[in-house]
Amino acid sequence: MTTLQQAIIKFQSELSSIGADNPRLEADLIWMNILNVSRAELFGYSQHEAIKKSTLIKARSLLNRRLKNEPLAYIIGSKEFYGLKIKTSPKALIPRPETEVMVDEALEYLSGKEKMLIADVGCGTAAISIAIAKNNPSATLYALDISKKALHLAKANILMHQLENQIELIQSNLLTNLPHPVDMLLANLPYIPTTQLPYLQSEVQLYEPLIALNGGIDGLEIINTLLQQAKYKLLPQGVIFLEIDPSQVKKILSLASDYFPSLSYNVVNDLTGRSRVIVLKPNSVASNKII
Ligand SMILES: C[S@@+](CC[C@H](N)C(=O)[O-])C[C@H]1O[C@@H](n2cnc3c(N)ncnc32)[C@H](O)[C@@H]1O
Repeated sequence: MTTLQQAIIKFQSELSSIGADNPRLEADLIWMNILNVSRAELFGYSQHEAIKKSTLIKARSLLNRRLKNEPLAYIIGSKEFYGLKIKTSPKALIPRPETEVMVDEALEYLSGKEKMLIADVGCGTAAISIAIAKNNPSATLYALDISKKALHLAKANILMHQLENQIELIQSNLLTNLPHPVDMLLANLPYIPTTQLPYLQSEVQLYEPLIALNGGIDGLEIINTLLQQAKYKLLPQGVIFLEIDPSQVKKILSLASDYFPSLSYNVVNDLTGRSRVIVLKPNSVASNKII
């Protein structure tokens, strides 16, 4: 006989052996998925009750996939982002906690502003658009992605959150098909240099879509093209929020200042204190000095 408590401890220890970041949380998530309960309900579950053999087999099959490095979000089909459930599948990158920094900053900027037009460029699952739309109901969003597969998943997420009247999905190479200029561009685009791709964690390398990761030779090819296009797709007082790799700050500011001579900017750190978001105001009156 195996109790729930024993099973969770066993799963946790096996997950530790593959170096999972938070083995206890992952063990809980597997059991929450199998028992179809929230984490609070899982804690309330009788920990000493025997688990049916068939239930244990189902849970074990999920654990075995995870032990082969498949990301948990793909196994259970969802991930929490900004307190919201987002459907996940190998069609798109799994939303990351560090991207919540960009959402926080964007929402703060939007606070008190009504009816803003926003483009989420490289929307993937549409996690960013959904978090913005839920927290700023008067905004209109365009969620753009070059990948049809990602847009398919984004559609399922937008429908699940009943945001189809607020978020329009558009297949587009960056801003090419954006119907008109917007007040805000939000972009978490691929920024990993091609040469670094073989060194990514195997769960990223083997399972997540390459198109969501590959930023070209220096990692900045796609961001550079976006900045070029932004000139024509941003309203005069518009603002650009970019998620970046901390090593890219200087290069991006230098590129942006080539396109926007009156640029001002702000760099925002993530919770680990690393530069994670650049906020660019292309037509600022007071221009920051570019380093
Ligand atoms: C790093 S993922 C981010 C996904 C999502 N924004 C998030 O934060 O979870 C980058 C996304 O950009 C998309 N992408 C890559 N190149 C693109 C391009 N040229 N135009 C539009 N989207 C692109 C990919 O398909 C992928 O969905």
